Amino acid sequence: MQGISRRVFLKSAGILSFMVLPGAGRIQARPFFLDEPQDYTGRICYNENPLGPSPLALQALRDEAALAHRYPDWLNKNVESAVADHLGLDAEQVCVGAGATEMIQKVADAFVGPGDEVILAQPSYNQIATEAIANGGAAVYVPVDENHIIDLTAILAAITDNTKLIFLVNPNNPLGKFIHKDDMASFMDQIPEGIAVCVDEAYNEYVENEDYESSIPYISEGFPVIVVRTFSKVFGLAGARIGYTLASADITEQIEDVQLRATVSRPAHAAAISALNDSEHVNATLNLNAASKTMLYNGFTNLGLEYIPSETNFMMVDCGVEAEPVVEALAELGFNVRTGWDMPQHIRVSTGLLGEMEGFLAALGTVMGTTSTPLGTPPAAPGIKSVYPNPFNHECRIHITTRRTEKVSLVIYDAQGRRVRTLVNKKLNPGAHNFSWDGKNTLGQAVVSGVYMLNMIQGEFASTRSIQLLK
Ligand SMILES: Cc1ncc(COP(=O)(O)O)c(C=O)c1O
Repeated sequence: MQGISRRVFLKSAGILSFMVLPGAGRIQARPFFLDEPQDYTGRICYNENPLGPSPLALQALRDEAALAHRYPDWLNKNVESAVADHLGLDAEQVCVGAGATEMIQKVADAFVGPGDEVILAQPSYNQIATEAIANGGAAVYVPVDENHIIDLTAILAAITDNTKLIFLVNPNNPLGKFIHKDDMASFMDQIPEGIAVCVDEAYNEYVENEDYESSIPYISEGFPVIVVRTFSKVFGLAGARIGYTLASADITEQIEDVQLRATVSRPAHAAAISALNDSEHVNATLNLNAASKTMLYNGFTNLGLEYIPSETNFMMVDCGVEAEPVVEALAELGFNVRTGWDMPQHIRVSTGLLGEMEGFLAALGTVMGTTSTPLGTPPAAPGIKSVYPNPFNHECRIHITTRRTEKVSLVIYDAQGRRVRTLVNKKLNPGAHNFSWDGKNTLGQAVVSGVYMLNMIQGEFASTRSIQLLK
């Protein structure tokens, strides 16, 4: 049974009434579960803010807890005004609810009914597909392009007479890529009448690239655009459950028509208003995110893993093997990451505290050293990655990669196959290692000009490079 909408509530001022809405009576989708650990270190699967709520928001949550016996602002007007002020919009253009999750459902309830189609990218955050189907509609998936970017041309080509809504996640989850502002502008110009475009900007604040732009300006330009935002990410309030839509006053009214009243608690209201004012915490979050991303990128490179560079607080990494066993093995070591989205070799990793990232990379190194269920592409093999300069005169630098904790021997032989110098012969941790050769033999004597062979052996892997010494 559906409760009364906030607008009906507003109009009838408390007179009980019911609305039958598309999707009424459905079972709520619950996409995934996690055994909540007491210590959240290692929970890098939900793109949460590792710094927690802002100190101002935390204080507001504490203060409001004492008023938990009092109903909140039923219609979220307090937060709608604060968001409108913050973004330079009218309060009538803002609709607040219990997270982006509630707002995405309400967008579907307002725009998608039986037989209607929603177009969305694949892979992407696909709650809207669940909502569309629950409402008797259909989801049309359009693959991202070869650069992992949402393919707007293909989305335009997928429009039919039944299309009611196009749902874009910008920047996209799980790929971390954004739509170029010029591509978005040309796309908006081509949207046929009668179709709304919903842009989920849950990760908007993380993007630093100047080719990215929020879609908020399209609202005042008269486009049928709905922007979805959340306090769950950069504002660190995922557990408080609060988010909002931005759209024209008319569209906002349509969303309010299908919204229940009082779904947001008073502590969440207070926390959101305080969080908006705490730019210091937002900056600290963005700085940590940047440092954490750099650490992850370097760590993946050292492990010989390819990743998809991301504009957000998460990234996809290609394990080179089936990802599911990697996810399980990481969980046993205390790190929760996600896989799925039809990308069977990839895991999605959220940024975290730097110590947490260090621990995660060590765990990943351990797991990658023991997980070997090749699926198509074999994992990047250990071996000699570079020798530079080559030819050399005084010293050459040697860069190798190892995959597991196992003895590595790195030996230089002359053209007759005689051992000249052993650079290493011991167990090394998985990752990248650097050595150098100064052109001397084991006795410290300079050897003659000529071609030498550098040979690396680790377990069953062997790798050889020739090095030329020129005096
Ligand atoms: C793109 C995107 N939209 C919406 C949500 C849901 O956010 P909220 O916590 O506000 O419900 C998420 C959560 O991860 C997300 O990644």
